[in-house]
This record gives sequence, structure tokens and C-alpha cells, in this order.
Amino acid sequence: MRILVTGVAGFIGSHLSEQLLTNPNVEVLGIDQGIESEPLKLRNIRYLLKHPRFKLFDRDLLTDDISTLLKDLNVLYHLAGIPGVRSSWGSEFETYLLHNGLVTQKLLEACKGTSLDKFVYISTSSVYGEKEGRVTENLIPIPLSPYGITKLTGEQLCNVYHQYFDIPVVILRYFTVYGPRQRPDMAFHRFIKQLILGKPLTIFGDGQQSRDFTYVKDCVKATAAVLEAKNVIGETINIGGKERATVLDVISILENLLNTKATLTFAEKAKGEPRHTWADITKAERLLNYQPEVFLKEGLKYEVEDLSQLFKSGRESN
Ligand SMILES: NC(=O)c1ccc[n+]([C@@H]2O[C@H](COP(=O)([O-])OP(=O)(O)OC[C@H]3O[C@@H](n4cnc5c(N)ncnc54)[C@H](O)[C@@H]3O)[C@@H](O)[C@H]2O)c1
Repeated sequence: MRILVTGVAGFIGSHLSEQLLTNPNVEVLGIDQGIESEPLKLRNIRYLLKHPRFKLFDRDLLTDDISTLLKDLNVLYHLAGIPGVRSSWGSEFETYLLHNGLVTQKLLEACKGTSLDKFVYISTSSVYGEKEGRVTENLIPIPLSPYGITKLTGEQLCNVYHQYFDIPVVILRYFTVYGPRQRPDMAFHRFIKQLILGKPLTIFGDGQQSRDFTYVKDCVKATAAVLEAKNVIGETINIGGKERATVLDVISILENLLNTKATLTFAEKAKGEPRHTWADITKAERLLNYQPEVFLKEGLKYEVEDLSQLFKSGRESN
């Protein structure tokens, strides 16, 4: 089976590709851009680069023609994009719009008339906005941030290309993913780094905001399960985690894991972030046989180990 993963050198794309390659019948073509000049991206794909069934293509999906890579392809996982809520305001919005919106449209166009079995678009809980309790996929999305708006644009493009051109789309909405290789702008990465370096932790808001945290291995198992799943074309599916927690709960676990006491500084609440997120994963259980397994304490331990190695190896400066 020939699979294309966009955003392969990113946090989740690299884990997904490793997961897919555990199947001996799978060959992965990975696309990302600017890899050579970014040490963290190279670090993310260091195992993949040694794998005999993996091929890397340094391409910008916004400007490069990738039609030859779509030939004889079975499944396409589209993870490439610009993530993050806080930086999506202001002048950066154009980048979000181009790489999340236009890139998705170009890929869908390029897939017209191909023999693709599944086009899996990776979306986000940020499309929901502020909701009460567990969210099901049929709720009306009302994103609070420019980032959420561009990801919802991607979803809606998938839906119309499915309707009019039979592109076999499947949409997965991830809920805050964490674990080894987590992006440097994400909260756990920042907290662990600040704790290791003995610096104060910056919390946006009062720290009582809660998230449905998804360990990256759980997330990519669910994503890989789409390959064999029946009755998923045209569906939108939440991928949530094992546990919910507040930001302050997480800091307390990290203090224990790192055997240190955090100094907290509180900054203004970030614009565009909901107070709580909570996934209803009944549909993922039914269609993907998904059951998240990793508790927060265990997943955080793995992320702490990974980041401790990163800082020791001096790849990232303070
Ligand atoms: N990390 C999370 O908690 C989370 C939650 C919900 C949804 N998502 C979604 O999952 C996907 C992956 O997120 P991540 O955290 O791994 O982000 P990431 O930034 O680590 O990975 C995204 C990758 O896409 C690549 N990319 C962007 N534009 C490109 C282009 N034009 N051509 C080629 N490559 C391009 C980037 O270089 C990057 O390596 C994103 O679509 C994001 O919106 C992530």
C-alpha cells in the first residue's frame, strides 16, 4: 500500500509515518518543506530516514507541483499546515490562510481523477469554539480563532470536493496532542523546558482552563486505523485522549516528574482559546475501534524524557 503523508517532518506527521510503517505492506512517501535548515524537523524524522520503505520529498505544497507523487497512491494523509492559535492573529493570518486553506484546496484539485482510496484531512478541536461538556461531531462549529477558521475552511473544502468530485475524504479532529517531539510553541513543551532551565512558567489565563489531552501514540494509532476502516468516507471523527486535566494539574504532575517546584507567572488569557475542550469519542470507538490507552502521567513522563535529551544534546538553546 502506497501512502503519502504531508507534514511528515512535523510533530504528529513523523509519529504517524512510523506507526504506518509498522505494517510490512506499507510504503510511505513523506512531504515537508525546508527540512535541511531546521534541526528539529531533521530530529523528528531521524528514524524515518533510515527506513527502507520511507522516501522523503522536500516540497512546498503551496508552490510545487506534486502530481507525479499522487500516481498509484492508495491513501493520502494531509497533516501539513500552520498550527497554533495565539500566532494566528494579525499579519500571520495570511500564512495560515495560504498553508491551511489554499494548500488543502490545491491538494484536493490534484487528487481529482486519481484512484485514491482515502484522503484523510487532519483537523482540530479548535473548530468547535466554546461548548458545554463533551462535543459530538454534529455540533455546529463556531471557531474562536483565525487558526480554527482556516482549519474549518479546509474541512469544508474537503466536504465540497467529496460531494462534487467524489474525493474519498475522511476528516479527523484532533484534541490537544502531546508527547515526544511536541512543538516548541505548545504548552507542555514550554513548561518542561522552563522547569529544566529553572525559569518561571508563563501561564496564559488562570490555569484552570481544561483540555482533553491526547497522547501522540494514541492519536496516530487512531489515524492509522482509518486505512482499514469501513464506512468512514465522508465522515468527521473526533480523536480525543484518555484524560482531561487543567493546566495547573499538568504543572503539578510535571513538578513531581522533574522533582522541582515551579515559579508561576500569569499572563493575559490568550485570545481565541476556549475555556474547556472535551471530546465525545463514541464515533471513533465505533468506526475505528479506537480506545485511548495512555494516562497523562505516563505520557508526560515520555515527553519529559524526550525533551531532557533534546536540551542535553544542545539542539535547542534557551
Ligand atoms: N499538535 C496538536 O495538538 C494538533 C491538534 C489538532 C490538530 N492538529 C493538526 O495536526 C497537523 C499537524 O500538527 P503538528 O502539531 O504536527 O504541527 P507541525 O508544525 O509540527 O507539523 C506541520 C508540518 O507541516 C509542514 N508544512 C506546512 N506548510 C507546508 C507546505 N506548504 N508544504 C509542505 N509542508 C508544509 C511544516 O513544515 C510542518 O513540519 C496540523 O494540520 C494541525 O493543524 C494538531
